[in-house]
Amino acid sequence: MTSIVPLHIIIISIVISIVLSPSNGSDPDPLQDFCIADLKSKFTVNGFSCKPATNVSSDDFFFDGLSQEGNTSNLFGSSLTQGNVLAFPGLNTLGISMNRLDIAPGGINPPHSHPRATESGVVIKGRLLVGFITTGNVFYSKNLTAGQMFVIPKGLVHFQMNIGAEKALIITAFNSHLPGAAVVPFNLFGSRPSVPNSVLTKAFQVEGTIIDEIKSKFGG
Ligand SMILES: *[C@@H]1O[C@H](CO)[C@@H](O)[C@H](O)[C@H]1NC(C)=O
Ligand SMILES: *[C@@H]1O[C@H](CO)[C@@H](O)[C@H](O)[C@H]1NC(C)=O
Ligand SMILES: *[C@@H]1O[C@H](CO)[C@@H](O)[C@H](O)[C@H]1NC(C)=O
Repeated sequence: MTSIVPLHIIIISIVISIVLSPSNGSDPDPLQDFCIADLKSKFTVNGFSCKPATNVSSDDFFFDGLSQEGNTSNLFGSSLTQGNVLAFPGLNTLGISMNRLDIAPGGINPPHSHPRATESGVVIKGRLLVGFITTGNVFYSKNLTAGQMFVIPKGLVHFQMNIGAEKALIITAFNSHLPGAAVVPFNLFGSRPSVPNSVLTKAFQVEGTIIDEIKSKFGG
């Protein structure tokens, strides 16, 4: 007679393996000191392959891409400069990255979410309203000034708006080398191909003309 593993043992084993699985957390831990991304390599695993160690120099560990103020002359009056693995290959596999966010008076970094990272940030200058909405539709927000920090739990929709009279600057940090961003207005109203109006009129309970008007602003 073959012995059969009881069902409850199988279920407990599955639950334990899910809880302990690294995919449940942020980026996985690195397997070596560093792995400078070779962005041109044809091989990608879960990240980028490493540049040969003999090609690595000090410059691979430093990045001055966040030193310049961004151009905020656009629809939202804001400019995001990314310091992720694509811009700074030295971050590859290390599970962290940073962005610079410049916002003109009245401007906004529109509602968006980062599927792969929790975000923390610090206001360097200006006055901002920073807020996020939970999966239970609770809105948490606060007005911040220079030196004050905030945190946005992983994956939640959030925004930063300049409510002061001066330019605002924020530096943000993420527990992923490539946090990704789904920007709500572009996601829903500017995708290619376009999300059908039948979906959006039903979802937002408005007429198609209103959907067309919003789409026209986001190239949808
Ligand atoms: C490594 O350096 C060699 C010699 O400079 C160069 O030919 C090669 O393209 C470099 N490889 C990568 C992945 O950077
Ligand atoms: C900023 O962007 C606007 C719109 O694209 C452009 O007209 C302007 O020349 C840019 N300013 C600078 C300083 O690059
Ligand atoms: C935040 O700033 C806005 C705009 O200046 C103001 O209307 C609001 O009362 C402020 N909220 C708090 C809690 O200070």
